[in-house]
Amino acid sequence: MKSIVRDMSLAPEGHLKIDWVKEHMPVLNRIREEFERTQPFKGLKVAICLHLEAKTAYLAKVVKAGGADVYIAGSNPLSTQDDVCAALVEDGITVFAKHKPDPEEFKQHLIMALEVEPDLIIDDGGDFTTLLHSERPDLIKNIRGGCEETTTGVIRDKALEKSGDLPFPMIAVNDGYCKHLFDNRYGTGQSVWDSINRTTNLVVAGKTVVVVGYGWCGRGVAMRAKGLGAKVIVTEVDSIKAIEAYMDGFEVMPLVEAAKMGDYFIAVTGNQYVIRQEHLEVMKDGAILANAGHFDVEVNKHDLAALSTSKREVRKNIEEYVMKDGRKLYLLAEGRLVNLGAGDGHPAEIMDMTFALQAVSLAYVNEKYKEIGNRIITVPYELDKQVAQLKLEALGIGIDSLTDEQKVYLESWKID
Ligand SMILES: NC(=O)c1ccc[n+]([C@@H]2O[C@H](COP(=O)([O-])OP(=O)(O)OC[C@H]3O[C@@H](n4cnc5c(N)ncnc54)[C@H](O)[C@@H]3O)[C@@H](O)[C@H]2O)c1
Repeated sequence: MKSIVRDMSLAPEGHLKIDWVKEHMPVLNRIREEFERTQPFKGLKVAICLHLEAKTAYLAKVVKAGGADVYIAGSNPLSTQDDVCAALVEDGITVFAKHKPDPEEFKQHLIMALEVEPDLIIDDGGDFTTLLHSERPDLIKNIRGGCEETTTGVIRDKALEKSGDLPFPMIAVNDGYCKHLFDNRYGTGQSVWDSINRTTNLVVAGKTVVVVGYGWCGRGVAMRAKGLGAKVIVTEVDSIKAIEAYMDGFEVMPLVEAAKMGDYFIAVTGNQYVIRQEHLEVMKDGAILANAGHFDVEVNKHDLAALSTSKREVRKNIEEYVMKDGRKLYLLAEGRLVNLGAGDGHPAEIMDMTFALQAVSLAYVNEKYKEIGNRIITVPYELDKQVAQLKLEALGIGIDSLTDEQKVYLESWKID
């Protein structure tokens, strides 16, 4: 099948971006060398749906180095980078993606990646699995299994599993330690602020930042806001997370109260309409709204539209909504996840671990799909440890190991 990309003349810029991240992804480089030797995907077709920027492009190249024919589509209309897509085509990967396609085109690209009837998939947010289940079950037949990248997709795959509708085995890569501990927390923490800062070019120090949701991502976003000198308020629906945020030194209160105080609002819950009419009505003039959750449903854009008299783009990736009472509210990246819609996503060193885990998990599901069955399983601990060990080696950090005596002690109930 022929690739669909915006402009092949952009390829040189894309190659430079991919080469840059490759230099900073030593774990994935080691896995690539191993895959070149062992060819775990020889003769197989792998369909990938991920944010199509440079780190993802390098993962696609590593899977190809393992013997696969790789077909890739973007997982978000704003995060696809056209130069990276063009470079991937030159590297022999079939790409169905453009930056900012219309919604129908975006969906069509996902379908095209599945129409190759892949043997394995890498999914993000459950786009492939839900599409296959609800609209194209005819394309499931060859699929041995796959890997899911993010919290929202794991939730969807678990729901499919619960109703008996998960059509093949999936590995919840998101739930691996080397993913959520670092990617969701430190990756999101840094890249969300990187994208907000470069998009707005405004100061954070002294301002009030409201972080909605204190999960893995929310912890990172709040931690980095504090580091930038902001006063940070956390809102939650989970009592345990709320206490954790409080003991981490943040103010905790209901969003309807925080709404009156915030200069920046960052929703990162994986839930829908967490910022809605009752909050928008009381926000300060000039408040900035961003979403870092997977889908663009956390800020209720219907409410924003209903409460406003006009909307215009005032700067790249900033939409100004003028409310009926004259206040102005600013929405970043159309309410899509801000760090990819208005930035380059997580740092390469973070995605090194995430995508290393993706690569080894994909090889694992290919090997074990018959015994796993139609379930979504967590990443086997030995794979997590393998990635962590390679990362430590790359960082030049040594750690201690247990003595034989200690091993016995830790497995025993006896006290000497
Ligand atoms: N932007 C990125 O690069 C990036 C990276 C990883 C994950 N994600 C996405 O971010 C979202 C969150 O992921 P996570 O790993 O932090 O999930 P998580 O499950 O660890 O945390 C989500 C938190 O939101 C809270 N929450 C739910 N509804 C709420 C509401 N109405 N008000 C306040 N809090 C609420 C939950 O109690 C929970 O503590 C998901 O959609 C995930 O796919 C984005």
